[in-house]
Amino acid sequence: MKRLSILFTSLLLCAGTAMAAVNIIPKPTSVVEKEGEFVFTKGFTIGYSDASLEPAATYLQEVLENETGFRFKTKLGKGKVQLSLVLPDENDESYELVCDKKGVLITAHSYRGIINGIATLRQLMPIKCRRNYCMFGGFHKFYWGIPSVTIKDAPNFHWRGLMLDPVRHFFSVEETKRLLDQMALYKLNKFHWHLSDNEGFRMEVKAYPELTGDSMAWRRFNSHDRQCLDRAAKENNPAMLIPWKFFKEVEGFGELYGGYYTQDEIRDVVKYAAVRGIDVIPEIDMPGHNGSACWCYRWLSCTQDGREPLCLGRNSTIEFAEKVYDEVFQLFPYEYVSIGGDEVNRRRWSECSECKKRIESEGLKDVSELQAWFTKKMEKYFNAHGRRILGWDEILEGGLSKTATVHWWRGDHPDVTQKATAMGNEVVLCPFTFLYFDYAQDDNTLRHIYDGDIVPVDLTPEQLKLIKGMQANIWCERIPTEARMQWMVFPRALALAEKAWTPRSEQSWDDFFPRLQAHLKRLDAMGIQYRPLQTKRP
Ligand code: ACM
Ligand code: ZN
Repeated sequence: MKRLSILFTSLLLCAGTAMAAVNIIPKPTSVVEKEGEFVFTKGFTIGYSDASLEPAATYLQEVLENETGFRFKTKLGKGKVQLSLVLPDENDESYELVCDKKGVLITAHSYRGIINGIATLRQLMPIKCRRNYCMFGGFHKFYWGIPSVTIKDAPNFHWRGLMLDPVRHFFSVEETKRLLDQMALYKLNKFHWHLSDNEGFRMEVKAYPELTGDSMAWRRFNSHDRQCLDRAAKENNPAMLIPWKFFKEVEGFGELYGGYYTQDEIRDVVKYAAVRGIDVIPEIDMPGHNGSACWCYRWLSCTQDGREPLCLGRNSTIEFAEKVYDEVFQLFPYEYVSIGGDEVNRRRWSECSECKKRIESEGLKDVSELQAWFTKKMEKYFNAHGRRILGWDEILEGGLSKTATVHWWRGDHPDVTQKATAMGNEVVLCPFTFLYFDYAQDDNTLRHIYDGDIVPVDLTPEQLKLIKGMQANIWCERIPTEARMQWMVFPRALALAEKAWTPRSEQSWDDFFPRLQAHLKRLDAMGIQYRPLQTKRP
C-alpha cells in the first residue's frame, strides 16, 4: 500500500511538473534537450565570475524576482545560476547556456553575450508558475522549473534594432524603458531614438534651452492628433486617444500637448539600456525635418521665417549643429550618431542668396552637393569626437564619404543597398516595404516579413560583409499611446528578431509559426497588447 501511495504521489508530482517546452525566438544555433529540469527555489544565488557582470546579475535578479515572486541573491563568485565570462572579446555576442537539475550556467566572451544568454533564460522560464499537489499531505507549493537543455548560439547580424519616434507623439521614460525590456527579451540590441523633427525637439540642449521651452516642446493639436481622435471615436478604440498625462497648461497658449527628455532622464534611459546590452543611437535630424528648431531660432532658416531646412549658407547654422551634437556626444556613449538627412526640401537653398554663395565658394555643383558638403563637414566633426555618422539613404545623393553608414529606408529604391555597398559604405536595412512598423498590417503581414528577402539577393560576398544588420522603424504620427505602439510592433518584432539573428538558411516559417504561437501566451502574460494573428473570421 505504501509503495502504491509513493507511486501515486510521484505520478501527481510528475503531472504537476510537466517540462516546459523549449521555444526560443530568435531561433538559436543549436538546442539539445535532456531529461529533467532545474527547479527555482527561493533564496538561491545568482553568481557572476567578473565584477563587470554585476549589472547583468542584478538585472537577472529583478527579472526572476518579478516573475516568481521569490527573492534571490547575487554575488561575485559561484551561484546556482552562474554567469561566466571567459576569454573576453567585446565583439563576440555568442553564448552557451547549460541547464541541468543542479543549476544554470551561462558562459560568454562579452557582457552582451551574457545578456543574450539571459534573454534565452527568460524565455525558458514557464509562462505561469505551476503547483505541486500531494493529496495525502494536503501539501502544495508554487513551482518554477526550466527544462534541462544545452543551447549554443550566436547572431548572424550585430545590428538588430528598433527606431522609436517620440516626436510626433511622446512616450514617457517609463514607457520607453518597457520597450527596452521587451527588446532585450528578443535580443534586439540597438534602440534608435529619433529625438527631433518638425513637430518638436525632445532632447534638452543646455546651449539652446528654448528648444524645449513650454511653447516649443508642447504644441496645439495638429492634423495627426485629429486623425487619431477620429479613429478613437470611429473604432471605439481608447488606444487612439491622446493621453492626458502629456498635456500641460502653458500661459498664453492654454492646454498644449508634448514633452521632452531632460539630460538626466536621457542618461537614465541610456544606463537602463546598457544594462540590457542595448546601445541607444540618437538621431537629431539635419538639415531637414527640423521645423521646430527653425521656428524656435528663426535665423536657422533661409528666409528667417521659421521654415525648414536649415540654411547651410550661414556659419551660425554650422555652429548650432556642432553645439547640439557636442551635447549629444556627452549623453550617448556609443560609436554611432545619426544625422538623419532625409527628405530635405533642397529647393529652398536654390532660392537663398547665402546658400547660393556657399555653393559657389565651395565649388559645388548643385543643392544635392550642398547637402553632401554639410554631411561630410559634420562627419569630420563626429569623427574628431570619436563617433561615426549614420544617416537615411538620401545622404548618398551628392556624394558620401566611405566611412558613413546608411539606413536604407526607401524600399521603392531597391538599388540603394547595391550602390552604397559597391561604394564601400556600410548599410543598416530598414526598407519600408518590410520594416515600417507604423504601416498598416493585415493577416499576411507577418509572413510577408518573415519570408521576405530583406537582405537584397544581388549582393556579392564582399558587399554582404557591409550589411551591418536590420531594424524596424516606428514612426508615431498615428501612434499616440503605448497600447497602440504595442499593437503595431507585436508580434512583428519577433519576426524581425529572427530575421536579424538567425541565418537566412535556418529561417523557416513552418518552424517559426508554432514557436510564435507559444510566445503569444508569453506576451499575454507580460500584458503586451499585440495584434492577434488573425483578425478576420475564417
Ligand atoms: C523616413 O521615413 N523619412 C526616414
Ligand atoms: Zn540658405
